[in-house]
Amino acid sequence: MPVIPEVNPIPLPAPPFLLSLLLHLTFLLHLIPMNLTVGGISYLLYSEAIRNNSPVADWVRSYLPASTALTITTGVAPLLFVQVLYGQFFFPATIVMAWSWLLIIPALLIGYSSLYYYLNKRQSLRFPWIPLSLTLFLFLYIAFLFANMATLMSTPSKWQTLYRSDPSGWNLNLTDLSLVPRFFHFFLGACAVFGLVGAVYGGLLRSADPVRAQSLLSTGSRWFVSFTLLNFLVGPLFLLSQPAPIRANLLGAHPEGTFLLVVSILTAAAAMALTLSYQRSPSKNLLLIAGSLLSVTLIAMGRIRFLVRQWTIAFEVPDFRISQIPAQPDWLLFAVFVVVLMGGLAIIFWIVKNWFTSAVREGAP
Ligand code: HEM
Repeated sequence: MPVIPEVNPIPLPAPPFLLSLLLHLTFLLHLIPMNLTVGGISYLLYSEAIRNNSPVADWVRSYLPASTALTITTGVAPLLFVQVLYGQFFFPATIVMAWSWLLIIPALLIGYSSLYYYLNKRQSLRFPWIPLSLTLFLFLYIAFLFANMATLMSTPSKWQTLYRSDPSGWNLNLTDLSLVPRFFHFFLGACAVFGLVGAVYGGLLRSADPVRAQSLLSTGSRWFVSFTLLNFLVGPLFLLSQPAPIRANLLGAHPEGTFLLVVSILTAAAAMALTLSYQRSPSKNLLLIAGSLLSVTLIAMGRIRFLVRQWTIAFEVPDFRISQIPAQPDWLLFAVFVVVLMGGLAIIFWIVKNWFTSAVREGAP
């Protein structure tokens, strides 16, 4: 039986179910800019490698500074909720991988600077792909660390062995079978979401700027369909890499888990079919429906991720129940949080809407 620290003696400031809901919501908010950033940089690297400066590359360069900043700022909220709800698991796991984990900060600073260097100096650089590769490598390193943290915090039985094998704090959770498929599932998903957003944007630009729209439509659809097809290979590997009881839960034993898995697969497949049929009968509604279906996939997969964490922890620590963490709600504080969150989201929505409207009207990148 692993040794787990006591629950934090300070009660939660809101009921656990509300904090879990906010963890879900804010994690999904983190995924949107993260997918545009990681998918967009991967595309730019590809276009620099084949020396093809398409309108898609201009579009990606125009949004990257904002999407990268949003990836970082939207990461703060889920980080706080994970610590509040799963502190007994999160802190020991991140202490075991201390130095690797702390490297997130320099990786972020260097990756972000290198991205700005590329964006400002691209025209004069002989090998613009070098700073871009550094950014992609460092951002993927950050994603890999989050996957390490997420798997290690759910498996407390490994903490002591890992710590004893290297007490200096350079550990990663490399023996976890699900780590690599999990990482690739996220990476491929990011490239696919980037592709569909590009295609939908192309669909909306069609009358304002037909040339740019065509490039966004064809490249975006190609990226979405090919990376989703690859995920239809990696996704099952990810499922197979889970411990048998968790796999069984997703394959029939747990009704909600099974339902969510079926919904995610069907909505992703339907979004792909609609994107392909757009090539035969171009109607922007088809792409908007595909985008809505993919949003359902992301929400359902986010919920599966939460259930899998619950089951994995319960496997080793059967007494742990989020619902039983003591809470002493401070509703005033909670209301202030909700108002600030809603205000922030409204401002971001307003900025994106204005940017989108002017782009669709004037054909800007
Ligand atoms: C460019 C930088 C970043 C990238 C590419 C990135 C990517 C990712 C990915 C792929 C995951 C899912 C990992 C998994 O479950 O296997 C993730 C989770 C997460 N990220 Fe980020 N991230 C970035 C920056 C940040 C920053 C700066 C923060 C915090 C300030 C953050 C907070 C989180 C949190 C808290 C989770 C896990 C949530 C949970 O376990 O429920 N991320 N990130």
